[in-house]
Amino acid sequence: GKGNFRHFMEKELHEHPAVLGDTLRRMISPSSRAVALPPLPFDLAGVPRVTISACGSAFYAGMVARTWFEQVARIPADGDVASEFRYRTPPLPEGGLALLVSQSGETADTLAALRYMREQRQHVLSVLNVPESSMARESDVVLETVAGPEIGVASTKAFTAQLAVMACLALAAGRARGSISAAQEAAMTASLLEVPSRAAEVLEHDEHIQRIAARIAEARDVLYLGRGSCFPIAMEGALKLKEISYIHAEGYAAGEMKHGPIALIDRNVPVIAIVPSGPLFEKTASNLQEAAARGGQVIVFSDAAGAAKLKGIAVETVVLPRVDPFVAPILYAIPVQLLAYHVAVLKGTDVDQPRNLAKSVTVE
Ligand code: F6R
Repeated sequence: GKGNFRHFMEKELHEHPAVLGDTLRRMISPSSRAVALPPLPFDLAGVPRVTISACGSAFYAGMVARTWFEQVARIPADGDVASEFRYRTPPLPEGGLALLVSQSGETADTLAALRYMREQRQHVLSVLNVPESSMARESDVVLETVAGPEIGVASTKAFTAQLAVMACLALAAGRARGSISAAQEAAMTASLLEVPSRAAEVLEHDEHIQRIAARIAEARDVLYLGRGSCFPIAMEGALKLKEISYIHAEGYAAGEMKHGPIALIDRNVPVIAIVPSGPLFEKTASNLQEAAARGGQVIVFSDAAGAAKLKGIAVETVVLPRVDPFVAPILYAIPVQLLAYHVAVLKGTDVDQPRNLAKSVTVE
């Protein structure tokens, strides 16, 4: 049941800390601070490329993972939504890693992408929340998100669990390939193991996010901006807002704003910035200046240092815990999902069963 929560989605949002803890504990040895994955039937050191395919939120999780494979493991990585990927039929180098991401393990397009990757002689690894699913049966290896059943149609805790699993996979690949040292791995697993308690702190911002939701609920269009590993989090925020509140939203790479979407910005378009401190902070900050200069109502998700720098331009700032930029996308997914939830509640939509949507999309 829903317990004391109004909706399954609200309950599931509050399960982020526990789910992240359960998922990470299975993959990180607390004593050695090293990633310990289940045995893989191939060697991560020999993989020439990672090809990622999935749908919806699961795809955005995969796009965060792409940045990790590139930056942590230094492996060429790319991907596409499964409905495009399966018909693009890209040639793939033999022995590459096919990475499929799915909560249900039943999504028709993702299953078709999996089968195509197998024909292309990839090692098929799926990140799944349902271990007895069609995709599980057809994979060489399954890494489980231990999110428990997700009832709300909009994915929440499964998304952050997918990120946690793929962060560990990227670290394991980095170690296998010698692109990170044991000390770096230990520091990064330590930041990962901190995420569950930081996630609990994020949930304490619920009331503030609810007040921001009142502002968003009046908007017709909302722009979400992020860079690097937080660009997919901007897209996740926009998708979640669209699907449960029915407000039009777009997630954009912050640097791409001036190539078009900036034309939309005026007082009536909230601009939501996913902007943790880190190497890309200043770049996004200058894009936000441009948005603010055109009257955009900039709503900032950052940490204390970032918030201080953006004080002059933000109409609202949610100050999140400071974390290693490596884990920031996991943490920052939570407040954007929470914001969409509160906007939907204010709009009075059917939060757990949004119109026209099904939990599991088994037809293409
Ligand atoms: C968005 C959402 C969908 C799913 C997508 C893939 O909140 O829930 O975009 O992420 O339909 O579903 P799975 O993960 O079951 O393959």
